[in-house]
Amino acid sequence: SYIQNVYPIQSRDAIARDVFDYVVACPDIASQSHAGQFVHIRVAGHTLRRPISICEVNREKGTLRLVFEVRGSGTEAMSMLSVGDLMDVMGPLGNGFTLLSPDSRAIVVGGGIGTPPMLETAKHYAENCTAILGFRDAAHVILDEDFDACGCDVRLATDDGSKGHHGFVTDLLRQRLEEGGADIIYACGPKGMLQAVAAIAEEFGVRCEVSLEERMACGIGACLGCATPIRTADGGMTYKHVCKDGPVFDAKEVIF
Ligand code: FES
Repeated sequence: SYIQNVYPIQSRDAIARDVFDYVVACPDIASQSHAGQFVHIRVAGHTLRRPISICEVNREKGTLRLVFEVRGSGTEAMSMLSVGDLMDVMGPLGNGFTLLSPDSRAIVVGGGIGTPPMLETAKHYAENCTAILGFRDAAHVILDEDFDACGCDVRLATDDGSKGHHGFVTDLLRQRLEEGGADIIYACGPKGMLQAVAAIAEEFGVRCEVSLEERMACGIGACLGCATPIRTADGGMTYKHVCKDGPVFDAKEVIF
């Protein structure tokens, strides 16, 4: 079950163009939060909450780190909140990633603003994790130092080659899998990227989980606003709620 309340903002940073990094002191939500889950934020003047993925959980300090991109008036209003202001947070919501034992070999793949939800997952595996992160260009690179600080092997790609590999995260994923095996791959980013990651995971026979981003309204499975087609075990198709049954799905279940 989730909690909803207002919580003080502890820090706020602008970390790239239109990308903001907030730490919110919400100990009761933090104590229940897991990698891959999200919170639903309400801002003044907007009826609908905005789903924001959880970037980091600090249970000792009772804080959540939220990194989001301004995409419209709701997220813009969120980005105006300052340290000490109260944020209306509902969460944790969604299922989160399946975490294996920390000595497993994991690969996280993040595309653009799909990168923040991968950090808490990467921290779980630390030096046993390869973090493959892709961005438009050097100015849009975020969190690479955070992944580095948790001990991961960080590999960057940019569309224009201004930082790291000139090309796609999927080039780096293939390269990494050719170097050696992995027990699990996690991915979050644009749908085309997820589809390509899922295909490579299948080719190399590695389990893969993807976090889907859909428009959401209620966030708790009550409105059908986030229905997505999912493959059933018998080869059929059904609709599931990204907010409640997801946002994380086994890549094999997703109909791209
Ligand atoms: Fe309402 Fe998912 S957002 S059911």
